[in-house]
Amino acid sequence: MSDLLVLSGKKVSSVVYQGLSDRIQTLKEKNIIPGLAVILVGENPASKVYVLSKTRTFKKLDLFTKTYRLSSDISQDELLHLITELNNNPSYHGILVQLPLPKHIESDKVINVIDPKKDVDGFHPENAGLLAIGRPRFIPCTPKGIMKILGHYEIGLNGKHVVVVGRSNIVGRPISILTSMKMDGANATTTLCHSRTPDIENHTRSADVVIVALGVTGFLDHSMIKEGAIVIDVGINRIDADNDKGYELVGDVDWSSIEKKASAATPVPGGVGPMTIAMLVENTVEAAEKL
Ligand code: GUN
Repeated sequence: MSDLLVLSGKKVSSVVYQGLSDRIQTLKEKNIIPGLAVILVGENPASKVYVLSKTRTFKKLDLFTKTYRLSSDISQDELLHLITELNNNPSYHGILVQLPLPKHIESDKVINVIDPKKDVDGFHPENAGLLAIGRPRFIPCTPKGIMKILGHYEIGLNGKHVVVVGRSNIVGRPISILTSMKMDGANATTTLCHSRTPDIENHTRSADVVIVALGVTGFLDHSMIKEGAIVIDVGINRIDADNDKGYELVGDVDWSSIEKKASAATPVPGGVGPMTIAMLVENTVEAAEKL
């Protein structure tokens, strides 16, 4: 197969923003400006870049956002205290704590104190539980964005075999739930592979849709997929490059290897990444509407 369909998250995200503009306008007419508090702890370079692109988007759309930049040696109690304050601040409809957090801080404890109604990342156990029982409130942004891309390109999953590689709470676990859920666009038979799965390629080779969320550069190549498979690349990995930044971003998929075999695939950059941000805006607008 030669004519690979590039699933452009950049394009789909601009459609999402168009759809959101009326909802944002309606809120503004009621003097409600959707607001997002972002907490960034420490100096993780990738986290800094992600936070910057999230907040830039909010500012471009004239939404309210503020980033709380905290030193990497902040105590867990201080962080919990800040979140409690933000929970009670009516200017914020959403609160996002950028992960990963420094090792001395327990992420679970931090996520637990976020008001579930402001948890626009969908990581709080209450929201994760609601998703698991098929009654989602806030769906984590990356998996929600993946479903949106598939929907936009009219790639139905009904009866398809989806193989997810990676079981994180941010992507792998929730996308395995979403793809297999009883709903339009889903209803897939989903296999969740992870670090303890022997012979992962035996699973990926039988998949109609492969979703890779591992963080391993070039993990998936042509030998691991079947002819005509649809490939969703969630990886955003930095590799050294001879350019201004000193690095470039690549995915978990070896694009040049799969492009002649897959029927459709998301590129990196410009695939899943822009959708994550669009879904964060959508979830924040939703939180403001539910106020
Ligand atoms: N780190 C990597 N992805 C995400 C995300 O979607 N949200 C947060 N808060 N942290 C992340």
